[in-house]
Amino acid sequence: MTTNRVRKAVFPVAGLGTRFLPATKAMPKEMLPVVDKPLIQYAVEEAAAAGIEQMIFVTGRGKRAIEDHFDRAPELEQILDAQRKHELLELLMSATPPGVNFVYVRQPEPLGLGHAVLCAEQIVGDEPFAVILADDLIDANPGVTAQLVESYRRTGASVLAVEDVPPADTSKYGIVATERMNKLEERVTRIVEKPQPEEAPSTLAVVGRYVLRPEVFTELATTPRGRGGEIQLTDAIARRVARGEVIARRFEGKRYDCGSKQGWLNANLGIGRNLGLV
Ligand code: G1P
Repeated sequence: MTTNRVRKAVFPVAGLGTRFLPATKAMPKEMLPVVDKPLIQYAVEEAAAAGIEQMIFVTGRGKRAIEDHFDRAPELEQILDAQRKHELLELLMSATPPGVNFVYVRQPEPLGLGHAVLCAEQIVGDEPFAVILADDLIDANPGVTAQLVESYRRTGASVLAVEDVPPADTSKYGIVATERMNKLEERVTRIVEKPQPEEAPSTLAVVGRYVLRPEVFTELATTPRGRGGEIQLTDAIARRVARGEVIARRFEGKRYDCGSKQGWLNANLGIGRNLGLV
């Protein structure tokens, strides 16, 4: 590996967001606001707070609003500056945390999460990296990505963020079986993508945060299509599990599944409460 530092994060944002139609007809689902900030900005802020310097977006058609959001907006900046609306100007600039850069790569076909991550291989190179799914908004301090990076630094293993889910929900997640290592980490002994409750090895679900060693790219390149006919990140990780190289961390924090309307509503209420709005 060229470095042991986790400097890069991959944000797969090519998904269609059909669950939020018609809101997402002309707008990427990652731009849905929770209170006053788009989901993707929460994710980028979490990455920046974990020391990530390069944000790599794996995008698709119709996602230009994301690129515009993380770009400067000179006309608006000039107008707000001329009107001395400094607070608004600060809010505008806050979309791009200092010291980070943004890179965009396309996923030409919707072949799954594993394929999306593989699209970032040339940009990530031979170093560990985070994967952040903006749908999972996690209110945590320190942020969940920082928690995973801390585990990676200590152990050198790929780290998955996990939490217990109701047994009926195992078919929505990657589910792991684990052995306790210490207070914070567990060694993953098995991982299965979206098993039915009767086949699930546990109720411990992988949520949308990973820190992965670069070897996962080699696995992804030869991972056949799995569940749903898609190239699954879970299947590539399973190959590293077989080598004992993957651990799980039960993160501290409150997760909102903003891929569902109910989760998104709860996120608005939860974050709104933090801001004293409800
Ligand atoms: C993906 C992964 C799944 C993981 C989930 C977390 O599924 O394939 O293993 O548990 O993210 O949100 P998706 O929600 O994209 O269907």
